[in-house]
Amino acid sequence: VIPRLTTIDSTARFLADGYAFVGRQARRAGSDVFRTRLMLRPVVCLSGAEAARLFYGSGRFTRSGALPLSVVHLLQDAGSVQTLDGAAHDHRKLVFLATQREEQVARLIDVFGDEWHRAAARWAGMTRVNLYRESVGVLARSATRWAGLGEAPAWLADELSTMVYRAATVGPLNWAARLRRHRAERWARTRIEEIRSGTRAVAADSLAATIANHLDLEGRMLTTDVAAVELLNILRPTVAVARFIVFAALALHRRPQWVARCAAGADDDRLHFAQEVRRYYPFFPVIGGVATDDLSFRGDTIRRGQWVLLDLFGTNRDARSWTEPDRFDPDRFRVWDGDPDTLVPQGGGDVARGHRCPGETATVALVVEAVRLLTTTMTYRVPDQDLRISLRRMPALTKDDFTIEDVRPARPL
Ligand code: HEM
Repeated sequence: VIPRLTTIDSTARFLADGYAFVGRQARRAGSDVFRTRLMLRPVVCLSGAEAARLFYGSGRFTRSGALPLSVVHLLQDAGSVQTLDGAAHDHRKLVFLATQREEQVARLIDVFGDEWHRAAARWAGMTRVNLYRESVGVLARSATRWAGLGEAPAWLADELSTMVYRAATVGPLNWAARLRRHRAERWARTRIEEIRSGTRAVAADSLAATIANHLDLEGRMLTTDVAAVELLNILRPTVAVARFIVFAALALHRRPQWVARCAAGADDDRLHFAQEVRRYYPFFPVIGGVATDDLSFRGDTIRRGQWVLLDLFGTNRDARSWTEPDRFDPDRFRVWDGDPDTLVPQGGGDVARGHRCPGETATVALVVEAVRLLTTTMTYRVPDQDLRISLRRMPALTKDDFTIEDVRPARPL
């Protein structure tokens, strides 16, 4: 049977332990699945690949009503793909699967490289460069160009990145109300209206046009509000990749031997490095779901309506799937079998039929490219600063935003 923690409610523990909460309690309970309460609501916490298979493979967990503790609601809003289930979900998901197509990823990397070079030309003249903030700007401008919307207004980068912050720090009802008033949403609604009315010309295969023209299963267009939310569902998480870029720069700083290996770029080293960044560093702690049916697990029943949390951070560091999980070692990916439920920073299971993140291909490509740019096109110094990562802060980042100095273009090889 599934053990129950002895404490009446674990909310304080969750806030104290942050990313480490589920893993730590699971070890204490001697079980990778346990029952407790969070904010007084009964919850089943699950950790590890087998649990991820249950969570993603059974098709029996809805995201509706699965808030509030999961910061994934930064990606969620009324009518978005995350709130849908079954056939309606899979059909809407097609819009996002377009982001994975080879030509779309190539276009993203192209504009990202262009925006990075433009920014890097400025960095060379600056005393200190805040790599997190700069990456946010580069990614925001890349994302709007990628979507087919050209240059983003300067304020959009800040709005998109603070939407991530607020999601984690403000109560769900509050943030939902606030987000709705957001300038970014008005901006996105206007773009959708312009595309639909023909006052803005966009390429037919652009992501913005794909969203604006998408028809649901009944052949109806999305409402302007929903289309705007889905447009932001591409822009906002693309900007969030800035965190992985900072983590990649941090990992390079801590392990200088990888600077040379990534610069040489042999044997998929950059890819393995990017994957290890996604596995090792904290991003989404958990994903929430609600059982839509009774199901049995470990000789016990998880009842319909039960709230469950799958531990993403802990699954990425589960010793049953990874040797020496707490060690940063990109070479582990030389022999990784590709099991979709062991590396789950962006969810597990099947991307087309479940809620797994459709932006993984783009994310990996961006991190690989950022690592290439950092190690081959520029030199810089990392001055003294607080580079610790608190596992209590969700979403996580280094204490200081990761500042670099003395940025210079690399001498041509
Ligand atoms: C910083 C990198 C990213 C991280 C850590 C991340 C993480 C996640 C996670 C954990 C989920 C939820 C999985 C679930 O509910 O089971 C998710 C869903 C989603 N992500 Fe990402 N993501 C990232 C980048 C992206 C990008 C670049 C895009 C768009 C191009 C994107 C679009 C989405 C969408 C639309 C969903 C909802 C999918 C659905 O409900 O079917 N994400 N992401």
